[in-house]
Amino acid sequence: MTNIDIQKVTLKNIDQLQKIGRQTFFETFSSGNTEDNMKKYLEEELSITKLTTELNDNNAEFYFANHDEKVIGYLKLNFGQSQTELQDDKALEIERIYVLKDYQGKSVGQILYEKAIQIARKKCAEYIWLGVWEENESAISFYKKNGFVEFDKHIFKLGNDEQSDIMMKLKLNY
Ligand SMILES: CC(C)(COP(=O)(O)OP(=O)(O)OC[C@H]1O[C@@H](n2cnc3c(N)ncnc32)[C@H](O)[C@@H]1OP(=O)(O)O)[C@@H](O)C(=O)NCCC(=O)NCCS
Repeated sequence: MTNIDIQKVTLKNIDQLQKIGRQTFFETFSSGNTEDNMKKYLEEELSITKLTTELNDNNAEFYFANHDEKVIGYLKLNFGQSQTELQDDKALEIERIYVLKDYQGKSVGQILYEKAIQIARKKCAEYIWLGVWEENESAISFYKKNGFVEFDKHIFKLGNDEQSDIMMKLKLNY
């Protein structure tokens, strides 16, 4: 798809961020999770309070993918102590890459991913890492296609349900 514009998200865009965050999370995970657990995640993890904290964090960055002035996907990156695990100063975490269902398979995810690589290189990160739900096969294929390899497995909680995340990393060459 052409005409994709990548925009850094600021506090002014918080409502759009909450909207794209909730919609993409719902589209991705509602079929495999209970309504209560979904509701809890959408309300707590994507609340205005939580997003405000994250947008004010110097060690986190959000980017939108826009098409015709509509937000169709987003990216969240974490650095230093804001990484959800490892907290290695030589690393960068891709916490989220999400594209609206209607726009998937059209290179939008790849464009967001390349933005992450560009930022990692600018920060001279030695590697990029991420955690992905073990049942999220399409995201795992997407990351494998981009050269990521599995290095660990961790448990995370969605509401009261314990799920496994596959940890993957990509070493950057300079
Ligand atoms: C995973 C996701 C970000 C990929 O974005 P996308 O825009 O659909 O993917 P793209 O069109 O940019 O695809 C890029 C490449 O990955 C490959 N790819 C994408 N989805 C794939 C899949 N399900 N299986 C195999 N390869 C896949 C594409 O074939 C493409 O490679 P190519 O250029 O050689 O054809 C997107 O599908 C998504 O938002 N999924 C739901 C949210 C999610 O699971 N996010 C990750 C959670 S951490």
